[in-house]
Amino acid sequence: MSSKPPRKILVTSALPYANGSIHLGHLVEYIQTDIWVRFQKMRGNQCIYCCADDTHGTPIMLRAEKEGITPEQLIDRVWHEHKRDFDGFHVDFDNFYSTNSKETQHYADTIYTRLKEAGLIEIRSIEQYYDPVKEMFLPDRFIKGECPKCHAKDQYGDNCEACGAAYQPTDLIEPYSAVSGAKPVRKSSDHHFFRLSDPRCADFLKAWIADPKHVQTEAANKLGEWLQAGLSDWDISRDAPYFGFEIPNAPGKYYYVWLDAPIGYMGSFQNYCDKNGLDFDEYWKPDSEAELYHFIGKDILYFHALFWPAELAHAGFRTPTGVFCHGFLTVNGTKMSKSRGTFITAESYLNHLNPEWLRYYYAAKLNGSMEDIDLNLEDFAARVNSDLVGKYVNIASRCAGFITKRFNGKLSESLPTIDPKPYLKQQFDDELAEKQTKGRGGWVMHARAHTEWPGHDTNELFGWFRNQGEDIAAAFEQRNFSNALRLIMELADIANRYIAEKKPWEMAKQEGREAELHEVCSTALNMFRDLTVYLKPVLPMLAEQVEAFLNIPPLAWTDVWAPLPAGHAINEYQHLMTRIDPKKIETMVEENKQSLAPVPEAAPVKHAEHQQNEAKADAAASPWEPFISIDDFTKVDLRIVRIANAEHVEGADKLLKLTLDLGGETRTVFAGIKAAYAPETLIGRLTVMVANLAPRKMKFGLSEGMVLAASDERGGPFLLSPDSGAQPGMRIK
Ligand code: 2FM
Ligand code: ZN
Repeated sequence: MSSKPPRKILVTSALPYANGSIHLGHLVEYIQTDIWVRFQKMRGNQCIYCCADDTHGTPIMLRAEKEGITPEQLIDRVWHEHKRDFDGFHVDFDNFYSTNSKETQHYADTIYTRLKEAGLIEIRSIEQYYDPVKEMFLPDRFIKGECPKCHAKDQYGDNCEACGAAYQPTDLIEPYSAVSGAKPVRKSSDHHFFRLSDPRCADFLKAWIADPKHVQTEAANKLGEWLQAGLSDWDISRDAPYFGFEIPNAPGKYYYVWLDAPIGYMGSFQNYCDKNGLDFDEYWKPDSEAELYHFIGKDILYFHALFWPAELAHAGFRTPTGVFCHGFLTVNGTKMSKSRGTFITAESYLNHLNPEWLRYYYAAKLNGSMEDIDLNLEDFAARVNSDLVGKYVNIASRCAGFITKRFNGKLSESLPTIDPKPYLKQQFDDELAEKQTKGRGGWVMHARAHTEWPGHDTNELFGWFRNQGEDIAAAFEQRNFSNALRLIMELADIANRYIAEKKPWEMAKQEGREAELHEVCSTALNMFRDLTVYLKPVLPMLAEQVEAFLNIPPLAWTDVWAPLPAGHAINEYQHLMTRIDPKKIETMVEENKQSLAPVPEAAPVKHAEHQQNEAKADAAASPWEPFISIDDFTKVDLRIVRIANAEHVEGADKLLKLTLDLGGETRTVFAGIKAAYAPETLIGRLTVMVANLAPRKMKFGLSEGMVLAASDERGGPFLLSPDSGAQPGMRIK
């Protein structure tokens, strides 16, 4: 078949953090990569798809602590959740591993040591914010305070969500630790830096970026700007306590999560090699002939196209063949939003809808560029129903029954020679000129460079289908899936026009047309088989169902070169795909509105220019609706109170009994703040209570109101305190 040996390709998707759920935004990338990998495998290439959970860093450490489990227990649990979600969407990794592995540690140490030997690691003392209560240095996202520009309260240490300003944590007014609430102090410690400012790095990167195979043009432009501005050295260490790998000969210093994350690609691949008897070095040595591709989102371009190739090149490894960057997902034209129910988790989608619908829709939108893609939920249903059910599945459902009932399940012994022109006509009327000039398959087959392609007579229907297969393959190869699906649907239109013209349902009623009916239905099912070959990277499960129905082995790309065997026996047709019921989409969206999860944990900081998509996905939406009126607010009688007494409650794990002085009157309130406050520290302080809350009878006595405190997964409860001057009994309004 092919004169060329199969390509050896290693493919990765970005490693998801082990502290959050997979959602539809993540799935753009995993589905895109999975389609590409499946396509390569169908073409006969050796393609290995590796991924892993990204398990290190402060957020994961703190989250485990908060849940009262070890980080290892947390990452193990999340690994299983992620694997379940990926399996659910048929994302078929050859290896889904963890960065918290001996293999990743080995390559992290190797790279670090080699960079050090090359004089590219430098140790410098830097001053950072330190939480004196928690006894830890604070990542930027764990320091909050007032924005120095617009004075919005409670902004992160790196940028303001209210006005968009970027700044240093030390610029914040009245900073506080988001971990303990304590006022952070400045403290110095030694940090390890990768010396990206060394001319060896800049020179290497300039040349690397200039090769258009390595990055898309839009990415090269952005990278060029960053290079032009000058690269700063990169701080790759963090101080204990930290969940990660300790740096060799540097006690208490750990690799920053972003140092070992991409090295996790190597770790996962090494683990795959060990399990499958492959030679790691063949893929990672500097002159390797294997291809290496990373699929990533545009927010992590800096890490993958600057830090990562520079590290590899100076540590004696090969660099990526290509970094394929995609845009973000919007839903109904805006950022995914929890309040609108469009921040949809993989799990929730799978509870309501078929994963292959989303695979198809994403593929129809992806064109290999860095543009954002929009999941318009109305268009989603319309597109899937029209293309997949109305055009593709329809071919089999209209013809299969006749083969089963009238011909004992066997296809005809011969197929007619069919001139494709009448069925092409419509599509060619308006596109002919364009196609001929662009050479995308016209009336006459044009010369092709594909040595393995034998060519087919495009004046014959199946020759036309086979010929289009090479254009479809080229589109898949370039990750222009939207183009591939357009070409495939044009073929489905041809098949449907053929069936509509032949009208097998009428032939079936007319005597003497048995042979013709047999051939027409067999022709239709052969076209259906060819379409299934082309759709298989996108719809692998549907293709499996079709293989079972057509009673054939797993389809490969070259199967289209010959029709199904004469007289081939098929199985009875079972319905292949239902239409999307828009009500199911509505139910899913409602469910995501109702299951408003707490604000996601802060993620490790990325390059300030592109903060992470998901953590900020909700920023544009209003989480405050429905609004209340001022009358609603004034119904709540909020008063300043002095805590006259605070004591433990026997038998209660969480409660403290507070005696509150309302400026004459006293109230007893049971408050769930025992975990955060020792009772004796509260006596005498002022706070805020809801004074007109109906008294509630509790196991331990009557609670006559409620004190107010702030909390979320980052900490708390934190009792409110008024400014000095406020007196017990004053109303808050
Ligand atoms: O942005 C993220 O979600 C990171 N966990 C991606 C890491 S990709 C690679 F470098 F590991
Ligand atoms: Zn601001």
